[in-house]
Amino acid sequence: MNEEKGQKERDAKVFALYEQLVEIEERLIPTGLHVFGRASSAGEKTDLLKMIASFDRPEVGVRALPEDLRDEAVREFVANGVDAAVLLMEQRGVSAEEARPVFDLLGAVSEKLQTNNEMDSFVRALRGEFVEPGPGADIVQNPDILPTGRNTHAINPYAVPSAAAFTRSEVVANSLLDRYKKENGRYPEAMALVLWGLDNIKTQGEGVAQALWLLGVRPVRDALNRTTAVEAIPLTELGRPRIDVVMTVSGIFRDLFSPTVQLLDKAVRLVAQLDEPLDQNYVRKHVWQQVEQEACDVDDAAVRVFSNAPGNYGTNVNFMVMDSQWEHEETLGDLFVTRKCFAYGRDSKGRAIEGREARVAMDRALARVEATYQNIDTFEIGITDVDHYFEYLGGVSKAVEKRAQARPAIYLSDTLSRDVKIRTLEETVRLETRAKTLNPKWYEGMLKHGFRGVAEIESHVSNTFGWSATADAVDDWIYSEVANTFLFDESMLDRLRDLNPHSAHSLVQRLLEANGRGYWDVDDSVIDQLREISRSLEDQLEGVT
Ligand code: BEZ
Ligand code: MG
Repeated sequence: MNEEKGQKERDAKVFALYEQLVEIEERLIPTGLHVFGRASSAGEKTDLLKMIASFDRPEVGVRALPEDLRDEAVREFVANGVDAAVLLMEQRGVSAEEARPVFDLLGAVSEKLQTNNEMDSFVRALRGEFVEPGPGADIVQNPDILPTGRNTHAINPYAVPSAAAFTRSEVVANSLLDRYKKENGRYPEAMALVLWGLDNIKTQGEGVAQALWLLGVRPVRDALNRTTAVEAIPLTELGRPRIDVVMTVSGIFRDLFSPTVQLLDKAVRLVAQLDEPLDQNYVRKHVWQQVEQEACDVDDAAVRVFSNAPGNYGTNVNFMVMDSQWEHEETLGDLFVTRKCFAYGRDSKGRAIEGREARVAMDRALARVEATYQNIDTFEIGITDVDHYFEYLGGVSKAVEKRAQARPAIYLSDTLSRDVKIRTLEETVRLETRAKTLNPKWYEGMLKHGFRGVAEIESHVSNTFGWSATADAVDDWIYSEVANTFLFDESMLDRLRDLNPHSAHSLVQRLLEANGRGYWDVDDSVIDQLREISRSLEDQLEGVT
């Protein structure tokens, strides 16, 4: 009996491990930087076409290529064209009727990948000449962005969220709440969401739609087909409480999506006024609690959409972390609030609130937050590729930690995968580290770019460090493996030294900082070794300059 149980547990563990390996293996990663003005190489093209062929596109009547045939079929297509690929699919039991539309799409994409108008358009722009417009999006999600080198246009904000984005977002919002509930035994009463402009352009408002679902409202279009209002989804239909949502929107979002900012604010105020039990409507619960306890105005208690002061952008948390200009972690959260505590929306008398400083309102709203979240919608840019994810999601999480006196659960979605996945921040950091920073395919791809490539590796490590500083979300092994891969491997260290000793030195310093600030628990001997490497790089740099 016991033996059987042991066997079952072992099987379950092996299966869980297998699933994790498959997850890393299937992760789409860019294996090099884009070079301005250069068309894709054959290898890059094949990889990209495979990714494009892995998604159903009902809007253009295209089905994803079956996983087991995808690699072979795309290679055949690249080598011998549409007809040959369709024939191969027929031999594998897929009808020509189903296969042809996929390869027609790949044919069109392939042709446009061949053209590269970037340099030409750039020169035209400098001359003040016309540059043809084109949509901005993720290439896998929307191949219509090709050819590149066009004047990227955004979106009509009144069209956001699109019907498709709203439909898609129901399952994301539910998965997010289910994940929290599984770990905490109940729903979170309040969540903090980060909304960015470019992401909501690319997805036609997925992030916005997720916020609306959490509140339990749906967008309503007016006679001109503009999304200018919301209506409550009845609780019986929703089947769960309405979550209080604190939204921090980027400066870009505020500028591009002014009507959407109004829509989100309107949604919160509508939900606060619904005559519903307080345990089913956390917005109402919190707003009225605050009105009673602090004798404040409903208008002030219902502020939930925050951004920078008009004309300002960013949280600056990234700069503070990158420059090591901080002593206590809470400074990072405080800086976030200082930069982002400007309220946007409309009060109950219909007067516009356009960037009014509302620090107390933000402090109160964040003090109730139990989970923070950001939607990730692209494979090209992940949470360690740029410093913006940790400045926003990390920044808000750190601000919550002090105000709520508890670290929030931190989640990210992965809506690019075919089945929506919600991951904790820690899981996402691990996955990104395995798929990118420590993946030879990724770093060798970067090193082909020489100086810039080493800078990219260093910047991934610093961005990873940003998740330690703002959220303590990085395991010790990650720093240890970074040291082993890039510094304690002599031939690798030599390559980094030759290509870019400045970034190599910064990388060592960042690891020493991780240890010094208590984010990396490792043997003193390892630290001594790093100091030694640091000194030798300093000698080299002094010799160079
Ligand atoms: C945005 O699209 O809103 C955004 C872009 C880069 C950094 C932060 C925000
Ligand atoms: Mg730790």
